Amino acid sequence: MADGKNLGMAANAVRSDDIMKPPTDARAEFVAAFAAALDERSFAKLALGKFRGDGETRKAVATLVAIKDKQQLKLVTSFPRKDETKMFAVEDGINFIKVLIGKQYMSATLFTSVRDVRLDYSRKGVPHLATGKPTLDSSAPVSHDRQKAYLVPPDRPYLKALDVADREGRIKPSMQGKYRQICRFIEIAADLISESAFRDDAPLTVVDIGSGKGYLTFAFYDYVTTTLRRTCQMTGIELRGDLVALCNGLARDLKFDGLTFVAEAASQASSVPADVVIALHACDTATDDAMAFGINTGARLILSAPCCQHEIAPQIRDANEGLKGLIKYPLLKQRQADLVTDAARALLLEASGYKVRLIEFVSTEHTSKNILISAVKSAGVDRFAARQQYRALQDAIGFSTHHLASQLKDAE
Ligand SMILES: C[S@@+](CC[C@H](N)C(=O)[O-])C[C@H]1O[C@@H](n2cnc3c(N)ncnc32)[C@H](O)[C@@H]1O
Repeated sequence: MADGKNLGMAANAVRSDDIMKPPTDARAEFVAAFAAALDERSFAKLALGKFRGDGETRKAVATLVAIKDKQQLKLVTSFPRKDETKMFAVEDGINFIKVLIGKQYMSATLFTSVRDVRLDYSRKGVPHLATGKPTLDSSAPVSHDRQKAYLVPPDRPYLKALDVADREGRIKPSMQGKYRQICRFIEIAADLISESAFRDDAPLTVVDIGSGKGYLTFAFYDYVTTTLRRTCQMTGIELRGDLVALCNGLARDLKFDGLTFVAEAASQASSVPADVVIALHACDTATDDAMAFGINTGARLILSAPCCQHEIAPQIRDANEGLKGLIKYPLLKQRQADLVTDAARALLLEASGYKVRLIEFVSTEHTSKNILISAVKSAGVDRFAARQQYRALQDAIGFSTHHLASQLKDAE
């Protein structure tokens, strides 16, 4: 329906100076970008055009849908008088679409939340690959919305209690951004919970550090108990006593019997070990304290969205005489420090036996702190290589201390 139009939009959005070279393996690069977008959860949709196969002219659009909690690729092929829909397991879908590109369809456009990627074949059959700014907001596509609405229905009582929704269960205009954040978080958490192979018959234990007003804490608890129908024991840890009192009151009113909040600092967390440790935008080194708590107590899943961290920037020095241009300007130096801080966190998690992914959490429109680091305990991680890479990063950038490293029981 919208694909022809969007293909046009994408063509305009793609910048000619962004042409990627060499073009010889452009199709493989395009397919790799498609697979990576699905893996990193930035995929919005893929559109196929310029049909040159046999039979009636057609175009096709692939989107991601959730069926019984399993993600599937849905491919809708539009003929002049009818649409045909095929559903695939994600990998099968990639393989099916791969074969069509360059044989039946001479153009393919990948829309992600990060960028658009377009593959076009010339009349002589030479493929050209180009990237451009994203023309679609990843939180907007219809099938994703449907999936999100399914995971976080807007009329859930806790959304009203937290003033995200009105009495009729409609999201308030001023809270649309918060609702999108909740949806995105639950979407990511849902996949990771199923990947983490928790025992179905045991209560899921969860600690949320720096829980604030509890938007994501209530959402997570509600998802586990209502959608997954699992027993959950969840503790929100928060410095501010007023927020703790507010959240405990709401949990009581909502009859969320397994959810409690305690007023304490992340570094002093007295909670019992948990299957899942969450820290979303917990300030400064509270993120490191939360990660250290998860690693030291053997959490199977750690989910954190880092906030500001002030420890690395003053330590960055031009160790290899090549960083001057990058650290001369305070703004760039801080950004560089943020990236280094998160890279070091990811490597330390890997070195502690976690499979780590960095995922775009919310659109950069809302906050520049939009990375979510997910860590799933896994036996198949090369811990030694990660430790080496951490040391190499220290050497290259010149920092000697990192709060997370200093909190780990099994460090070095
Ligand atoms: C930006 S809010 C995020 C709240 C919530 N996680 C969310 O994403 O909606 C950060 C919260 O972390 C709390 N906090 C900051 N440092 C903390 C620490 N060291 N220990 C516990 N809580 C902390 C703050 O009081 C604040 O409520």
